[in-house]
Amino acid sequence: MRILSGIQPSGRPHLGNYFGALRQYIALQTGNEPFYFIASYHALTAVHDPELLREYTLGVALDFLALGLDPNESALFAQQDVPEVTELTWILSCVTPMGLLERAVSYKDKVAQGLTPNHGLFAYPVLQAADILIYLSELVPVGQDQKQHLEMTRDIAGKFNQQFGEVFVIPEPYILDSTAVVPGIDGRKMSKSYGNEIGIFDEGKDLKRKIMSIVTDSTPVEAPKDPSGSTPFLLLSLLASPGETAEWEARYKAGGMGYGDVKKRLLELIDDYFAPHRERRRELERDTDYVTDVLKEGGLRARTVAREVMHRVREATGLPTTY
Ligand code: ADP
Ligand code: TRP
Repeated sequence: MRILSGIQPSGRPHLGNYFGALRQYIALQTGNEPFYFIASYHALTAVHDPELLREYTLGVALDFLALGLDPNESALFAQQDVPEVTELTWILSCVTPMGLLERAVSYKDKVAQGLTPNHGLFAYPVLQAADILIYLSELVPVGQDQKQHLEMTRDIAGKFNQQFGEVFVIPEPYILDSTAVVPGIDGRKMSKSYGNEIGIFDEGKDLKRKIMSIVTDSTPVEAPKDPSGSTPFLLLSLLASPGETAEWEARYKAGGMGYGDVKKRLLELIDDYFAPHRERRRELERDTDYVTDVLKEGGLRARTVAREVMHRVREATGLPTTY
């Protein structure tokens, strides 16, 4: 099955990105045809510092590889290495109703958070539709917040196919219920834009400080507690075995357990789980030529597919190349 997903190079990845998306990317690599990319054109809607964009782009490639993405199984590439995707964005724009974009929640959210509303930010879902459709992707692993973008992609693909013939595959989102919305330090959805994230590659004092500052209620130690809405418990359950998770659930309900205990265990679990990946990332940082080669190779693989599909799109829309 053709799998595709992308992540914006707009900061360091966090546990929400990992459990909501990245872990599924890695799990889906084997036996499928995965395309994973760094959504640099999307990041340009908000990041206007070229040095920073370059640094973040390389950073995401390092993250992917350190977390277990295998370049022999998956094509890993940077969005700008397939410029055909911007051409498709224009063509799709011409079948995208304004009303569809005006309903986009993520645009409204970003403007509410103070981002300058440029046209790129408004047209963002059309570029995302082009990313998905240009590779005839069938399955798109993402977190819950991308559900609307996937619905828009399906709508846009349907409109194009209806007007110009069946060129595009209608993709399915792949969203796991258990990790659809990972909470951050303040209990809201973990997100770079809320500044409430725990980074995948955070360690030492910095990591400890973040875990200890996770917001909890003021139930006294001896009183029974409700695990269901408790951030330390929800994060712990992502990492601990089912048996251990059940034990903590029982300890919450029995009372006599302080939130400090569960946070301490959470810290250990994070350290154990991510230690090998941190080490791998440090190794890769010393060999950025390898990382650049991986991106180059992935870009060529992706571009071959994109060119072929664009040829069909151009023929279907009455825009054949004239030379
Ligand atoms: P952020 O909100 O921090 O900017 P991104 O928009 O870059 O994160 O998200 C990249 C991927 O990670 C997307 O597939 C998104 O759905 C997923 N994701 C981000 N935050 C969370 C979260 N808190 N819980 C689950 N998935 C998440
Ligand atoms: N909008 C996605 C995010 O913020 C990133 C993205 C861009 C994407 N193009 C995509 C995700 C295509 C899946 C498929 O996380």
